[in-house]
Amino acid sequence: MKIAIGCDHGGIVLKPAIVQLLNQRGIEVEDFGCYDDSSVDYPDYGAAVARKVASGECDKGILMCGTGIGISIAANKFKGVRAGVCHDEFTARMIAEHNDANIIALGGRIVSPEQAAKMVAVWLDTPFGGGRHAGRVAKIKAIEDENFK
Ligand code: RB5
Repeated sequence: MKIAIGCDHGGIVLKPAIVQLLNQRGIEVEDFGCYDDSSVDYPDYGAAVARKVASGECDKGILMCGTGIGISIAANKFKGVRAGVCHDEFTARMIAEHNDANIIALGGRIVSPEQAAKMVAVWLDTPFGGGRHAGRVAKIKAIEDENFK
């Protein structure tokens, strides 16, 4: 598995703990920055990661900004991307089981690095539930087909 990661200055505090978790699991990581806490624009990093997930070059993505919100909004502008903000292990399980989310977005001003790593672990370990959830995700795909080129 290959995972793309990206963050802005508001989310970079979470990156070391998440990269450590991915390294421990032997998961290949492609890091699109940023690399220090200088102020940058979160859409640039959301797009870089989402582009790789949408193209299939990366299997999943992890995004971090101050809240996880702005960077997930940017990522969701890519066809085939389902990015969701999580605040705890319950929401991390739900975006995998119910939403088949291929990107998890986290807030560096909301959760601790330790919490973030636990949430990523839960998201990675939870399979998509299928069944009624598959029908709902199919409806999201139909909305994309209607609205994206
Ligand atoms: C940056 O100050 C902040 O706006 C950004 O990290 C993020 O929280 C946006 O949604």
